[in-house]
Amino acid sequence: MKIGILISGRGSNMVALVDAVASGEIPSSEVAVVISDNADAAGLEKATQRGVETVVVERNGRKRADHDAEIIEELKKRGVELVCLAGYMRLLSQPFVQAFPNKIVNIHPSLLPAFPGLDAQKQAFDAGVAITGCTVHYVDELLDHGPVILQRKVPRLPDDTVETLSARILEEEHSLYIDAVKLLVSGG
Ligand code: GRF
Repeated sequence: MKIGILISGRGSNMVALVDAVASGEIPSSEVAVVISDNADAAGLEKATQRGVETVVVERNGRKRADHDAEIIEELKKRGVELVCLAGYMRLLSQPFVQAFPNKIVNIHPSLLPAFPGLDAQKQAFDAGVAITGCTVHYVDELLDHGPVILQRKVPRLPDDTVETLSARILEEEHSLYIDAVKLLVSGG
């Protein structure tokens, strides 16, 4: 399975996937490219260090569909079959979603449909929930929306701050994303 990963920032989920592919934990796969819409994304350097090709495709004031068309072209010309969003901070246009039917997935740091959008960990913390977590889901044109593939719960502990809770969720994100991609690669 040829995988393309889209990032906008830190790239820790991207690193988890790249390393799991390299170690064979995610079998029969290759990360063909990491694409960022942000030239300053810290994840770009991490991908390069791991020998993965990177491409920057900035929006530059273009319409979303035109920006997406260039990203689709970069993915298609490398034969990408599965697109993993990993901290990619943009909504996808309908043509992008339709270019890879049921083959675009995202990770989000809450138990969707609860707490979509930015700062999901803080949203959950502020809401006072006892349990939050993370979700891998298929992507449609809506924000943090689309059929759920896997979820994992993370309890809020009595002494938690937003930072400690977010750190425990992030750890679970990395292993959940690997598990979800393993499922998808094996046709599950
Ligand atoms: C993660 O919390 C992910 O769930 C969300 O954005 C964050 C990206 O972190 N969509 P990283 O860039 O993977 O470190």
